[in-house]
Amino acid sequence: MPENPDSPPQGKAMNNTLGIIGSGNIGGAVARLAVNAGIDVVLSNSRGPETLRALTDHLGPRARAATPAEAAAAGDWTVIAVPFSAVPHLPAHALAGKTVIDTNNYYRLRDGVIAELETGSLTAGQLFQRYVPGARTVKTFNTIYFEHLISLARPAGSPDRSALPVAGDDDAAKKSVTALLDRLGYDTADAGTTAESWRIQDGSPAYVLPYLADPRLPFFRDPGKPAGTKEIHTALEQAHNRP
Ligand SMILES: NC(=O)c1ccc[n+]([C@@H]2O[C@H](COP(=O)([O-])OP(=O)(O)OC[C@H]3O[C@@H](n4cnc5c(N)ncnc54)[C@H](OP(=O)(O)O)[C@@H]3O)[C@@H](O)[C@H]2O)c1
Repeated sequence: MPENPDSPPQGKAMNNTLGIIGSGNIGGAVARLAVNAGIDVVLSNSRGPETLRALTDHLGPRARAATPAEAAAAGDWTVIAVPFSAVPHLPAHALAGKTVIDTNNYYRLRDGVIAELETGSLTAGQLFQRYVPGARTVKTFNTIYFEHLISLARPAGSPDRSALPVAGDDDAAKKSVTALLDRLGYDTADAGTTAESWRIQDGSPAYVLPYLADPRLPFFRDPGKPAGTKEIHTALEQAHNRP
């Protein structure tokens, strides 16, 4: 039976806890959407639960802070939103067997040069996977600026609902993350396997651009614009140049 069924058997509760490792811009934005959707969140960072007090107070009673290993253990899904350089320090033992959402991007200036990613012999998602053996990883949220992630969320069926690309190797985990995203306010577009996730890395047509109202503006000043499933599929098909 899948670990995170989106339609639980009768008598079983729906998955309702999201663990978050890395509670900055993107982790905090996902936490906000989750709390708004009635999902409990367990947030963590590198400095300890006490440093997340202001954020959990702001998010309200569905939010609490813990250590990264505790957040991983508590979550029906665990979102990882740390700088890529912190990925080797994740609590791999606590993530084994879990559905793990990889939001991370590699930027050489921030993360230092990683040879496999520079040559393209591995995707960032494949390298991530190596650090969390046994986890069922799904890559998403990495293609959207965190403020747009909040402002573009819409209820299911809204005509201006946006889609996020989702890549991964485990179909049940992908399905579970798709159900989670639906609750958070997003449709999804299948971006293939982890090996194919170069199509959603920095510089690809599906990366950030579809959600910008005016690409001439610095993206952090851009108000954002909805981009639906069809537009994201088109952007994925336009990704021809593997780095
Ligand atoms: N910003 C965006 O709009 C955006 C959008 C999509 C994807 N992303 C990607 O998401 C990831 C996070 O970006 P961000 O902008 O959210 O970064 P951020 O605001 O700097 O937050 C990073 C978080 O990671 C935590 N962290 C660092 N090392 C850790 C460790 N070893 N264990 C546990 N937590 C650790 C930090 O906690 P401490 O402060 O306690 O160290 C902080 O809470 C990056 O890979 C980024 O490329 C970002």
